[in-house]
Amino acid sequence: MLKVNNLAVSYGAIKAIHGVSLEVHDGEVVSLIGANGAGKTTILRTISGLKKADDGEILFNGTDLRKMEPSKIITLKLAHVPEGRHIFPQMTVEENLEMGAFTDKKDLEENMEEVFERFSRLKERRRQLAGTLSGGEQQMLAVGRALMAKPSMILMDEPSMGLSPLLVKEIFSIIKEVNRKGITVLLVEQNAKMALSISSRAYVMETGKITISGDAGELLRDDRVRKAYLGQ
Ligand SMILES: Nc1ncnc2c1ncn2[C@@H]1O[C@H](COP(=O)(O)OP(=O)(O)O)[C@@H](O)[C@H]1O
Ligand SMILES: [Mg+2]
Repeated sequence: MLKVNNLAVSYGAIKAIHGVSLEVHDGEVVSLIGANGAGKTTILRTISGLKKADDGEILFNGTDLRKMEPSKIITLKLAHVPEGRHIFPQMTVEENLEMGAFTDKKDLEENMEEVFERFSRLKERRRQLAGTLSGGEQQMLAVGRALMAKPSMILMDEPSMGLSPLLVKEIFSIIKEVNRKGITVLLVEQNAKMALSISSRAYVMETGKITISGDAGELLRDDRVRKAYLGQ
């Protein structure tokens, strides 16, 4: 479904990503783990067109995304839940959800009802300003907004960041459920243990390169992964 070949990305003279290749198949949850600054966010931003690549290929269902604008990429049903959520704090929950929709009015209402069915906490707060939601609710809103585009695949950047352990569990169970409904997920996480536990496969990044990849279960048992990312 998604195939990244030999991707290179830089910020000015600094090369952030060197020759990264990865694949996500239809229906999978795949995680990308690695320390702060490894380049995970840069990869997701490049896939969704927010950052331009220097070299390489990004194929989504066979279409090369590299020269495409983000507004076009979202219409291909590839959604992005950015790091730090980036909801609109001065808009209501409903208005934020509308910003995620790329469909006509009738579909919009239907999609919103679907999101509210999944996230009852958002429904109760539909007219509340998003900036007044708790961290966990804001994260749910960010996921809900991505779902408004009816994506076939979602890129999620550190959805558990800054959440209490209980909410981390809740967010991970939401990701699992979203996947069960047929949406493919590429998940970036620092919480390697939780991420691996819901993934079929994973890639480990260090300073702009992929250093380890494999089945999630194998990586959970890999000594290098255990030492560096699982604290074991
Ligand atoms: N806007 C930017 N300008 C310059 N350098 C950046 C920018 N964003 C990220 N970088 C650098 O690129 C590297 C990868 O960052 P990032 O993709 O955010 O990593 P991660 O998400 O894994 O923490 C880091 O060295 C970071 O300092
Ligand atoms: Mg990041």
